[in-house]
Amino acid sequence: MTGFPQIRLRRLRRTERLRALVRENQVQVGDLVYPMFVVEGRGIKQEVTSMPGVTRFSPDRLPPEIEEITRLGIPAVILFGIPQHKDEAGSSAYDPEGVVQQSVRTIKQAAPELLVITDVCLCEYTSHGHCGIVVEDRVDNDKTLPLLARMALSHAEAGADMVAPSDMMDGRVRTIRQELDKNGFSDISILSYAAKYASAFYGPFREAAESAPSFGDRRSYQMDPANAREALREVEQDIAEGADIIMVKPALAYLDVIRQVRNTYNCPLAAYNVSGEYAMVKAAVQKGWLDEKAVVMETLTAIKRAGADVILTYHAKDFAAWKADER
Ligand code: PBG
Repeated sequence: MTGFPQIRLRRLRRTERLRALVRENQVQVGDLVYPMFVVEGRGIKQEVTSMPGVTRFSPDRLPPEIEEITRLGIPAVILFGIPQHKDEAGSSAYDPEGVVQQSVRTIKQAAPELLVITDVCLCEYTSHGHCGIVVEDRVDNDKTLPLLARMALSHAEAGADMVAPSDMMDGRVRTIRQELDKNGFSDISILSYAAKYASAFYGPFREAAESAPSFGDRRSYQMDPANAREALREVEQDIAEGADIIMVKPALAYLDVIRQVRNTYNCPLAAYNVSGEYAMVKAAVQKGWLDEKAVVMETLTAIKRAGADVILTYHAKDFAAWKADER
């Protein structure tokens, strides 16, 4: 028997029972992390124009939203802060009373079991919108490191379970790990945005987080989209420096990178289904050009099939609600 007509691959596609039996990959709600934007102030609940369905909350308005997220069975959120005050050194980022620090405390009170991950990066907090300290129009790597460590520590002190550096400075995982360990937080894990590309797909996020750079772009620190081997070097470094989970970002245009990282390393792997990927789906759905549920299911499954264990996605709440309906 060497093939057709004895072999017919369609046999196992005949019914949904058969297809489910041999299905290789399945996304579960338990794989998802829901990204949230928290704004300093009171009584704020506003939708992000370019990300329909995504809302920015002030800390006092978080509890009902957190209850919904917990009820849907989503295991984790990642927080991005929008401060009232921005300066050259991003000082609101490591203020113990900062918006993320306040939000972590509020969330831990409302839902102690929900995993709270915090994004560690200065871009939302600096007046120039770059991810580090600027010296003569250049982002200075080594001057930025202690500030990132201070920011991560203040998140841990507020009660975060995991910190996620997204700045792309060299050596930040090691610096953060040392600072956490020195201060008694050796159990707090690091999710490193190891291979983060300088991507145009972050556009809507920058509106949501008010974090677009005021001059230049991020190509001197984020990766060149043309490179895949370099992603493996980034991942290798971050694992050596103590990252617990590594991430590839964005997801969809970088599925090959996700697969190569998965094949090369045994570290848990996350992928970020970013704002631009979400906005494209939403825009087409609003025009009636795509079937939202089908497209989101297919997309998230593809990210999983590429090798991601964890998926950060703005579709998390919708996905969880659809899964609940299926039961
Ligand atoms: C901060 C950060 C960005 C994103 C996550 N963390 C924006 C950027 O690097 O400009 C993008 C997330 C998204 O697009 O959904 N550095």
